[in-house]
Amino acid sequence: MAEWLDACGEDDLIAAGCLSVPVEGRLVALFRHDGSYYAMQGICTHGSATLTKGKFENGEVICPLHQGRFCVKTGEATGGPVWDDLKTYQVRAENGRILVQLG
Ligand code: FES
Repeated sequence: MAEWLDACGEDDLIAAGCLSVPVEGRLVALFRHDGSYYAMQGICTHGSATLTKGKFENGEVICPLHQGRFCVKTGEATGGPVWDDLKTYQVRAENGRILVQLG
C-alpha cells in the first residue's frame, strides 16, 4: 500500500482553495471543493502548464495556457484542447495537514 505523504497545511488549502505543491519530485495540485479535498497531477496533460495558475471555478480548473478544462473531482478532461484526463491521487486531512498517496 502506498505511503501517505505530507503535502501542505489544511488551513493553507482552505484559505487558497487550490494549491500546487511538490511532493516527492511531482507537482501535485490540491483543491478544496464543496467541503472535500481533491488531489491530482499539477501539470496539464496538453502542455507544460501549472494548472493552479489558471482559474478554479465551479469545480473545474482551467489551464492558463490554452484554457483546457478539467473536473477537480475526477480529473476528467471536460473542454478545450485537452483529451487526456489528469491522474488523480488519494487525499485526506489529518491533524491539520493534507496528506496524499501518489500510488
Ligand atoms: S497546456 Fe493546458 S490546455 Fe494547453
